Amino acid sequence: MIKGRLMVPGDKSISHRAVMFGAISKGITNIKGFLTGADCISTISIFKKMGIDIEMENTCVKVNGKGLYGLSAPKEILDCGNSGTTTRLVSGILSAQNFTSVLTGDKSIQKRPMNRIIAPLTLMGAYIKSNNGFAPLTITGSSLHGIEYNSPVASAQVKSAILLSGLYADSSTTVIEPAKSRDHTELMLKKFGANLNTTKTSVTINPCKELFATDIDVPSDISSAAFFMAAATLVPDSELILENVGINPTRDGVIKVLKDMGANIEIIKSNDEFEPVADIKVSYSKLHATTIGGDIIPTLIDELPLLAAVASMAEGKTIIKDATELKVKESNRIKVMCEELSKLGVNVVETEDGMEIEGTNKLLGNVTISTHDDHRIAMTFAVLGLISDGEIKLDNKNCVEISYPGFFDDLRKVNI
Ligand code: S3P
Repeated sequence: MIKGRLMVPGDKSISHRAVMFGAISKGITNIKGFLTGADCISTISIFKKMGIDIEMENTCVKVNGKGLYGLSAPKEILDCGNSGTTTRLVSGILSAQNFTSVLTGDKSIQKRPMNRIIAPLTLMGAYIKSNNGFAPLTITGSSLHGIEYNSPVASAQVKSAILLSGLYADSSTTVIEPAKSRDHTELMLKKFGANLNTTKTSVTINPCKELFATDIDVPSDISSAAFFMAAATLVPDSELILENVGINPTRDGVIKVLKDMGANIEIIKSNDEFEPVADIKVSYSKLHATTIGGDIIPTLIDELPLLAAVASMAEGKTIIKDATELKVKESNRIKVMCEELSKLGVNVVETEDGMEIEGTNKLLGNVTISTHDDHRIAMTFAVLGLISDGEIKLDNKNCVEISYPGFFDDLRKVNI
């Protein structure tokens, strides 16, 4: 069973942003609870290559910001590794610099769509050359104009890239989304002194002369905590307390859906800081199927593979829809989940915009899962391995380092 207390590592989205915004603000930004996963290390290394002094000791990071115009031209290609957030948000910043730079990343990054940022940033006046809409991106900064942009996708990465360029534009910039995506950029930019106005699905940023350093406490990542919420829900007799989890309403869809499926989840202590946090108690419960679709999708986009896995143990047929974005994540997460859940004997079908999962009460084991080097696929099947009939092996365990170094140690610690 899953028992005890656990504090999972810092939030990936917030950690990236704290380094980026710290680098382009004046003064020293001290970050506590920083995620030391490979993705956030890519962000640090990129800003170091642009002349920013960054020190890291365990999960404390000190960024010596040089202001909005303080970055220097990198001497080498900027390698974003596996990180879509780094690639897209940094593109927004680079679009306004007075130098040319090249951004690229690993095999997966080079397959992820970049036209979604190239189009709006080009409208603002940036020059971006790409490999037919994919990285490597060669970005030549320019003086930028404010735009009003109707984004075709609810994507915080797209929204943030545009808002970061908007800091440097000659007039205000508005991004309108089909549904609200995570708002960490808006909350944190305000803390650094930017002037933004938000409505339910739009954000307007005003050009800015300078951002000012501020200290950031990073809450634990709800996307990482979710694996343990699922584990405690699925393994009989479990009871687990997850500490200091970020519960920003643009990220908490996983809690809503699990509760809707019958999970036993209680917020036992919450704190309204600049990002809301809470301790969360989760205990074992039987589950029933649900339908996941519509505006809730962006609030749980990274948890959908896990929710599909959880649905395989819920009574009835769970439908996931409006989730085509899943196809362009670190892997095609719809296809991969359908293929890999099938190996466990689950009846699952891929649909145009999601999948349908028939619940069962028995998962086969003695299989090897193809993770496609996708960290969230690996952790999802590690959780199912707690309840399968035989061992579930992963073809690549190391990919969890992208967002959760120490995941397997933490899983062993609470699995008693
Ligand atoms: C992120 C936004 C989401 C999410 C990703 C992190 C961010 O991507 O999937 O893991 O930090 O802004 P999209 O904005 O592309 O949906």
